[in-house]
Amino acid sequence: MKPFIILHNSVTLDGSLTGFLPDMELHYRLAGSFQPDANLIGSETVITGQEMFGNGILNEEPGDFVTPVRDRRLPWWVIVDSGGRLKGMLHTCRRFEYCKDVILLVSELTPEDYIKHLVERKYRYICTGGEKVDLQAALSVLSKKYGVNRIVTDTGSILGNLLLDKQLVDEVSVLVHPMIKGIDSYNMFCNIPSEVQLSLIKEEKFDNGCVWIVYKTKYNDTRLS
Ligand SMILES: NC(=O)c1ccc[n+]([C@@H]2O[C@H](COP(=O)([O-])OP(=O)(O)OC[C@H]3O[C@@H](n4cnc5c(N)ncnc54)[C@H](OP(=O)(O)O)[C@@H]3O)[C@@H](O)[C@H]2O)c1
Repeated sequence: MKPFIILHNSVTLDGSLTGFLPDMELHYRLAGSFQPDANLIGSETVITGQEMFGNGILNEEPGDFVTPVRDRRLPWWVIVDSGGRLKGMLHTCRRFEYCKDVILLVSELTPEDYIKHLVERKYRYICTGGEKVDLQAALSVLSKKYGVNRIVTDTGSILGNLLLDKQLVDEVSVLVHPMIKGIDSYNMFCNIPSEVQLSLIKEEKFDNGCVWIVYKTKYNDTRLS
């Protein structure tokens, strides 16, 4: 079974994912309201998030080499990183107290030294695909092996658009912020080759001028399961 996937993003009125400061408290409160078993994140989002909101990358400590013991109800953080770009900074994610632990999605061509790095630190990882991660196969393993039935993906347009294009997204949740980014907009849906039909299932407005809309995706019968 494929996990149920909610693509959740904050955007400007013209659909930009970047170039503005989202209302982070509201963004994460709404993301949490979906009660996911896992948050699925692209490697680039982790790197830019660290640059924007982190306090630099602190040295690893002995505690970073062991699996954290936390509330079992917390969501996993699942990060797609076939290139091993997060080598040396994964502990900044693992230390986040609201995640159970980090699971990496890697591929057959992931550098061996990165896999060794993961093993030394007892990170769980799922290997699918040749050069890049086979997202559908990895999601299936997440479901079967880790009991992940519900995923919120709060990521950039590259991973979000791939998931939409593969008809893996079940709901699209967008928190629209009251500004127009204009010419520098980085559009949330800029790389989807085909149309996606939607039906509105939720709408809510907030005092800060944001509007939250949630759509259900409508795919044709050839949808992959
Ligand atoms: N406003 C918001 O709500 C919001 C939320 C999140 C992020 N953002 C912004 O979005 C930007 C980052 O987004 P992004 O679009 O550049 O990147 P991204 O979606 O974070 O990362 C790209 C991901 O796609 C994976 N990928 C690429 N091609 C693939 C393929 N063929 N098969 C499987 N996986 C593939 C990459 O995996 P590999 O590493 O394996 O190549 C990588 O993990 C940042 O500026 C961030 O601040 C905004």
